[in-house]
Amino acid sequence: MDIQVLVAYATKHGTTAEIAEMIGQVLRQAGLATDVLPADRVGDVTPYEAVVLGSAVYIGRWQKQAAKFLKANEKALAERPVWLFSSGPSGEGDPVELTNGWRFPKALQPLADRIRPRDIALFHGHVNVDKLNFIERSMIKNVKAPVGDFRDWETITSWATAIADVLKEAVS
Ligand SMILES: Cc1cc2nc3c(=O)[nH]c(=O)nc-3n(C[C@H](O)[C@H](O)[C@H](O)COP(=O)(O)O)c2cc1C
Repeated sequence: MDIQVLVAYATKHGTTAEIAEMIGQVLRQAGLATDVLPADRVGDVTPYEAVVLGSAVYIGRWQKQAAKFLKANEKALAERPVWLFSSGPSGEGDPVELTNGWRFPKALQPLADRIRPRDIALFHGHVNVDKLNFIERSMIKNVKAPVGDFRDWETITSWATAIADVLKEAVS
């Protein structure tokens, strides 16, 4: 049986889109038919057997498009295996330590509890000053957030490989 997987994402400056593309690549290499799409361009999730959804984090919140996707598709998502990820903290070390324990937006936790994702991951992000507007730059400066690309591709690819293993196991 062909498993159709959706990797949906919401990004402001492109980092999260690249993470989603990498996850998609790993899933495809594992033989899973995978679409990688911006969350606001997904019409219907019901053709997919499994869904991965990721968002960039800004001031402790997910991008609107990802939150909207989660809300609009709650029922269908609760009936499928779902994995969630955030791309956020900059700096070296454990991402959860970098965010002082933040793992997922508080406002979306009740929704996630109903959907019951298989996992909620927090990946390092990329603070690219060249792409930030004036306000974002001053916010980053104020909180002294490290600038640069801290994405850990090994962690991201092994997370995606684990998803592929679960899905392939389910149909074997
Ligand atoms: C103004 C601003 C606020 C941010 N707030 C957070 C935050 O609250 N938590 C976090 O982990 N990362 C935060 N970040 C880091 C971004 O989430 C990170 O750079 C992310 O990878 C950007 O993804 P995108 O390029 O897909 O938009 C912030 C970045 C900026 C510029």
